[in-house]
Amino acid sequence: MKLCIRNGMVISPANKLEQLADVYIEDGIITGITNPGERNFHGEYKEISASGKWVVPGLIDLHVHFREPGFEYKEDIESGCRAAAKGGFTTVCPMPNTKPAIDNPELVAFVAKKAMEANGVAVLPIGAITLGQEGNELSDFEAMKNAPGSIYALSEDGKSVMDSQIMMQAMKKAKDLNLPIFSHTEDRELAKGGVMNEGETARSLGLSGIPSEAEEIIAIRDILLAKNTGCQLHLCHISTKGSVELIRQAKYYGIPVTAETAPHYFLLTDKDVIKNGQETGSKRLKADPNWKMNPPLRSEEDRLEIIKGLKDGTIDVIATDHAPHHSEEKAKTFQEAPFGIIGLETSFALSFTALVKTGILSPKELISRMSKTPAEILGIDRGVIEVGKTADLAIIDVEKEYEINFDSFASKSRNTPFMGKKVFGQVCYTMVDGKVIYSLE
Ligand code: DOR
Ligand code: ZN
Repeated sequence: MKLCIRNGMVISPANKLEQLADVYIEDGIITGITNPGERNFHGEYKEISASGKWVVPGLIDLHVHFREPGFEYKEDIESGCRAAAKGGFTTVCPMPNTKPAIDNPELVAFVAKKAMEANGVAVLPIGAITLGQEGNELSDFEAMKNAPGSIYALSEDGKSVMDSQIMMQAMKKAKDLNLPIFSHTEDRELAKGGVMNEGETARSLGLSGIPSEAEEIIAIRDILLAKNTGCQLHLCHISTKGSVELIRQAKYYGIPVTAETAPHYFLLTDKDVIKNGQETGSKRLKADPNWKMNPPLRSEEDRLEIIKGLKDGTIDVIATDHAPHHSEEKAKTFQEAPFGIIGLETSFALSFTALVKTGILSPKELISRMSKTPAEILGIDRGVIEVGKTADLAIIDVEKEYEINFDSFASKSRNTPFMGKKVFGQVCYTMVDGKVIYSLE
């Protein structure tokens, strides 16, 4: 199959490309990048017009929850992969907090098999650090790495490994196997019982708070363990100003740490939890569970520092933490509803609108955070549009404004705080190995 993507704005920070070009693809490989219209051909190539659109390396999400096995009513690998493709993602890393947890080679192989039956999005599993994610005994990293499909990182996401000795042993082993650790930074006891950010808003709602220190204490602990062990550490869903400052320092000292945040942490604050809750009969303020996630939405000061961290590169990556939950679960009270929101189908548009439209990030910086750098962290040869490389890419109309509407989502779940929000950035095509796996029409 021969394909030519005509006249798009090709943005590929890995090889410093940002120019109007035609991109030629043969048998899944990029074979040419030329000035628009430079080559003539007669019908041998199928043409896709990308006039007025961005052509970017397929987006890579280091942090998703696909819920299979165990919670397929929320999402499964097939529906998760369709949601990914609709969002412009060509590679995703599912977290192991399934039931049972992905903590052995058979389950890694199971995820790989399910991924093969899906739409072609590359699914790179993350293995659990401890057996059953119970925090007591390390799982067999090497066996999981050698399993069909392999693992690409280790994580206890959903909670932290609270025993520092076990975490240090995990980092030593992970380093020997050349695997990164993706750390969910949350001190269990400090966060216990909390449902939203500690502060004025939580007090006015009568809800118990989660202090920033719950995140920062484990962030600094894991940074110190990475310094000790030399393990490549990646900090998940960073939400506080203090964490950004700690990561900035750690990088200054050359400690091998990277970090991600998610769109809700640079778009929303804890005040939005109230604003969007409906008033009850007694006129008491109420919080809306679609604004409930872990870590929680923080203060305006935190939000601004997250943006600063994204701009100066302290935060390397925008991930989604796509965390699907059923609408009946999210219809419970704020205290009782589960933590988490979905993000695969809104992440690019939200990030582009909030960060590039406003001039905070350049187009190349955005694509670095969403594709180039995640590929580097995973150690995969993706995240670039270059002759000789695999044709994983997305074509995105960044001029088109539209309202986010979950009725069009491929995800099985609807738990987003961004329903009805006006954004720019419509994914028109997603391609893996040169094959179109999603198109808007
Ligand atoms: O909000 C969250 N949801 N945070 C987590 O750490 C876990 C996730 C989930 O699995 O639902
Ligand atoms: Zn998560």
